[in-house]
Parts: sequence; structure tokens; C-alpha cells
Amino acid sequence: MSDWKKIDFGHTPYAAAFGRGDVYDVGHKPERAAKRPLAVAVAGCGGVAQAKWIPAIRRLQTIGEPVRIVGLAEPDAQTRTRAAELSGAPGFASLGDLLAAGRPDLLLVLASDAHHVPLARQAIEAGVPCLVEKPLAREFADAVGLARLADEKGVLLASVANKRFSPPYAQAKVLVDAGALKSVPTVFTGKFTLGYPYVDLLEGGTVHLLDLLLWFMGPVEKVHARGVWSADYLTSAVISFAFRSGSIGTIMTSAAGLSFGPWERVEIFGRNAFLTVDNQIELALHDDETGPAKIWRPSVPNTLLFDESFGGYSGLLEDVLDAVRGTAPLSATGRDGAAAVSLIEATRRSLARGAEIDLAAEGLLP
Ligand SMILES: NC(=O)c1ccc[n+]([C@@H]2O[C@H](COP(=O)([O-])OP(=O)(O)OC[C@H]3O[C@@H](n4cnc5c(N)ncnc54)[C@H](O)[C@@H]3O)[C@@H](O)[C@H]2O)c1
Repeated sequence: MSDWKKIDFGHTPYAAAFGRGDVYDVGHKPERAAKRPLAVAVAGCGGVAQAKWIPAIRRLQTIGEPVRIVGLAEPDAQTRTRAAELSGAPGFASLGDLLAAGRPDLLLVLASDAHHVPLARQAIEAGVPCLVEKPLAREFADAVGLARLADEKGVLLASVANKRFSPPYAQAKVLVDAGALKSVPTVFTGKFTLGYPYVDLLEGGTVHLLDLLLWFMGPVEKVHARGVWSADYLTSAVISFAFRSGSIGTIMTSAAGLSFGPWERVEIFGRNAFLTVDNQIELALHDDETGPAKIWRPSVPNTLLFDESFGGYSGLLEDVLDAVRGTAPLSATGRDGAAAVSLIEATRRSLARGAEIDLAAEGLLP
């Protein structure tokens, strides 16, 4: 079996609910309480910080993780005040002011895309580990440069890859690593749709699927893409991938679909077996011509289902906190973030030239 994190498919851990009679998993856990307490700061306190990351930290605190929010950096005064109220931590107008007041154990870089690299560089130069929202950088050279800086300074750099920690994908990874597809993965197909065309289709949304593709299939050698535009906006693209392993893949991504309706689907084939993850909620394994499919699906609504964990945010953060403590390896590294950005860059080049892109020849290997 894979040593990937134990998967609770949208519910409280079995041992807590049935072993301890602690259905909300709020009871004292000596092993968690014994962890080194960590101080986390946040740079950029807009939508995702307020709606996802501050709640994810609260979720971890609720189950006993020794972590607290010690400061926020946010230039917009109204947003800063709001986030300070939500988190109970002091707000600063800039990261420089925050770092001058104290050194956190980890900085969450949650500002808009263009600010990821300058903020993370500033923190890493000061020796502060960073978890950076996707995309790690808008340009591949900046993403690689950031990963290199972190290596040189010996400072931890983590990338947001929250879907890896979302139960349907995490369970799929366990199945693949355990040989449920009866071979290594041979084909990956993914579909991603957006309804609101005000975020960049590739770096705003598809980047999540690109990370999953790399996670399941390994390094990519070649990329070929075709697109449809509305004025300058890329509304749809079909991208095909050749992996170093010899396997193949494709992603269809579109802003001509829906955001609230069905929005995402992944299929991974082995040999006479395949699995599907539909809409990031249901996992199905089809591995028998005449036998039943195996289906995993959470109960919604369910008082034991927590969005912070089902969305993968609290699981990712817990992984990064343990890596900061040095008690577990980091699962989604800065290089992983750079690899996803390299596929965005390769897709853009392929669309511009109408040609296949060889990542090594183009200097796009992370
Ligand atoms: N993982 C996910 O599923 C997910 C979901 C949504 C957004 N995101 C990512 O999170 C990031 C933020 O998205 P959002 O929707 O919260 O955007 P937002 O515009 O709501 O918030 C961004 C905030 O960053 C602040 N900011 C700008 N420059 C800054 C600086 N130099 N220092 C500190 N703060 C600064 C802005 O004032 C703003 O409040 C984006 O990179 C986005 O791609 C990821």
C-alpha cells in the first residue's frame, strides 16, 4: 500500500468516532499535543485567505494542532481590518512591517498571483519558510528562480496543491500506488470548466489539474495544445501530453462551461482497469468486466464532513507544518509548483506556435 496519508473520505477519523466516542475529533490527542507549537503568518488576506486558509487553521486548532496565527500583511486597510477580526491576529500594511515585528515559523503567501514571487523571496531571504498559493509564479523562470533561492538558502518552500489532499484524489492515489489499475497509469484524461471568464483559464484554474497530472503520471516530456479565443481571452484549450514514462495524457479546459455545475473530471487508465474522479466528490474504480464498480462518495450534508478538510486545505497545511518541524517530508514542494508552471508555459508556447513543445529543448524542465 502507498504510504500516502490515511484517507478519511469526508468524515471524522474512524478511531476518533468509534474508538474514542469523539465524533468531532476534538478530544485530547497526546501525540498531536506533543508537536512543536508553530506560529503562522499570512501575506494577502483576500477571498481565499478569509474563506479557506484562516478556516483551515481554525480546523487544525479544533482538532488539537498546536498552531496559531501571529500576523497578517495586507495593504488594503478594510481587508486588513476584516482579516484581523477573523483571525484574531494583528494586521500590518506590508510584509516588511510584519517581519520587523517578529519572525513566524511559516508564511502563507496568499496574495494575488503577481505578488507571489516578490513576497516569497522577501520571506525566504529572511529565513522564513513559505507556502505559496498557485500558481507559484506567473512565469516559469521566476518559479524556478524562487525554488533555486529556497534551495540555496536552505529554507522550506511549499506549493499549494490542495487537491492532492482532497479525499477523492488522495484515495485515487492510494489505489494507483497499490496497483489497483493492474499496471502503472498508462493514460490520464482531465476536464476542467469555468463559468466566470475573469480569471486566467490556465494559471487560475487548470493549474490544479496540471499538478494532479504530474502527481499521478510523473514528469512530462512533450506538450501540444490547440485553443479557442474570444478577443485576447483563451476560452478553451485541448492539451496533450507525452510523459517520460511513455504514458500519454490529455486535458480539456474551458471557460465556456459552468463553475457551480459539473466542473471537473479526471480519468486514469492502467491495463483493463480505470478509475474516475467526478467533480472532486466521487471516486469510482472500474476493474472488473463483469463485477461491480467500487464507489467512494461522502454523505452531504453530514455533520462530520468539513469543507476545510474535504477541499484539501487543512490536510495540505498539516503536511507543511510537519515538514517545518522536520518530522515528515514535504509533499508538495516549490519544484512541484514550478513543474505545474512549466506546463502552463509550454501550453502557451504551443498555442502561439501551433507546434509541439519539447520541454527539455525549450529549457522548461523544473
Ligand atoms: N487553492 C485554491 O483553490 C485557490 C482558490 C482561490 C484563489 N487561489 C489563489 O489565491 C491567491 C489569492 O486569491 P484571492 O481570490 O484571495 O484574491 P483576492 O484578490 O481576493 O486577494 C488577494 C489579496 O492580496 C492582497 N495583496 C496584494 N498585494 C499584496 C502584497 N504585496 N502584500 C500582501 N498582500 C497583498 C490584495 O490587497 C488582496 O486583498 C491567488 O494567487 C489565487 O490564484 C487559490
